[in-house]
Amino acid sequence: MTKTSSSIDRIWTIARLIAASHREPEDVDGWSRKFGKNCHEITGHTYRRYANKGRTVQRLRRQIGVGALAIAALCVLLLAGVAVEVPGQRMIASPKHASVENGKAVWNGGCIACHGANGKGAPETSTVFVRPDTWPDLTRCDQTTPEPDSAYKSVILHGGRGLGFSQIMPAFGDLLTNDQIDDVIAYIRTLCKNDKHFPLGVLNLPRAIVTEKAFPEDELVISTAANVSGPGSWTTDIIHEQTFAGKNQLEVDVPVNYARLNGAWTSGPGDITIGFKRELFSSERAGSILSLQGGILLPTGDSNRGFGAGTTQFEPFAAYDQLITNRTFLQLQLGADLPVDTTVAPRSLFFRSAAGASFAPDHGLGRLYSPMIEFVAKRDYMTGASTEWDVLPEMQVTVSRRQHIRAAVGYRKPITDVSGRAPQVEFYVLWDWAEGHFWDGWR
Ligand code: HEC
Repeated sequence: MTKTSSSIDRIWTIARLIAASHREPEDVDGWSRKFGKNCHEITGHTYRRYANKGRTVQRLRRQIGVGALAIAALCVLLLAGVAVEVPGQRMIASPKHASVENGKAVWNGGCIACHGANGKGAPETSTVFVRPDTWPDLTRCDQTTPEPDSAYKSVILHGGRGLGFSQIMPAFGDLLTNDQIDDVIAYIRTLCKNDKHFPLGVLNLPRAIVTEKAFPEDELVISTAANVSGPGSWTTDIIHEQTFAGKNQLEVDVPVNYARLNGAWTSGPGDITIGFKRELFSSERAGSILSLQGGILLPTGDSNRGFGAGTTQFEPFAAYDQLITNRTFLQLQLGADLPVDTTVAPRSLFFRSAAGASFAPDHGLGRLYSPMIEFVAKRDYMTGASTEWDVLPEMQVTVSRRQHIRAAVGYRKPITDVSGRAPQVEFYVLWDWAEGHFWDGWR
């Protein structure tokens, strides 16, 4: 206790000194609360013939075999994640032992000089420094609830500089113990009062390339899928996602296609998707989140060149994500494509899954590496159709210091019903625009 109070005295003095020392206006560009977002699916829509091939027992066996292989691979990955887990080192999940009471003492000692007793900010007459336009109002749940603890921890440990924010926010790494930081974060969490209405940052998992995740996002993703053999073809999806009214998200996906047809390259738009997602259920304790999305695909692509389905389609799906440990996760998506005119395109069902883990230096606070493996299946809803399974090993990395720019690359290999389906290289760049301008937060 004495140690705690003396270290709090120290940070109180230092915080007041720092608060008084920043007289120069800070030129810090906008960033708002959401942290570590990413999500969505890309639809490298390849509209292929759906020849009516008789289903053979052999094919069925092979599909069962692939399913078993998929499950085995998931198990190995998840077990590997469990095995390397370091006790006490928390990256995704928040600590369960944190004490709000101790956190309040730390807050009153070292933070209120700038952040104020309530978390909105101390009166500007007493803080002297000019607030960056990214100044956090910690009473606003829309800004704080979607922030994972790791983001706060990084800022408190290393100061604003650590994530490319204002250096007015001091580093407390030498002043506070790990537990004190967890405690003050737990206290910060009590400053917003209606957090039930917003998605929980801890459940915001790394975005897989194909499997769409459940967490509602604010981001722009540019995602490309290119054939590595067979006929030249690539599709780039420009995807915009935006949350509104808490747990809802609007999404627009505009695909652009390039293909080699009859010896010449041709290009054109694909079918534009407009989707609405809503989080239905989430639990920090269970580590799970469930969302439903309804989408409509407009027939904007030229179906003669294979750029579109040639009919409006509805695309409902459910996305369910589960934290397995604090660094391993599973993401599942189950949905259907329902064309209005089924004589032009068949109804189909799809299943997508991504299992992965996240690793980062600096006790999980540094650059984040998330290897994942996806198993993706699609089956036309007609007799005699077979299920197309693809496997997609991939890696996502946070590129900017603020972690608001991420990139991923993967290799998608068809494993059943392979004829006419080329392996593809898939990659994306993701900009979590709620965290700041593209060029902010790199150093
Ligand atoms: C000298 C003034 C000052 C002190 C003292 C201070 N902060 Fe800050 N803090 C800031 C500023 C300024 C920012 C905004 C940085 C930016 O947006 O560029 C900030 C940002 C933060 C953020 C990021 C909020 C978000 O939404 O991402 C957290 C968390 C935070 N402070 C926690 C603390 C805690 C905990 C303490 C006490 C241990 C503390 N701060 C002490 C000035 C201060």
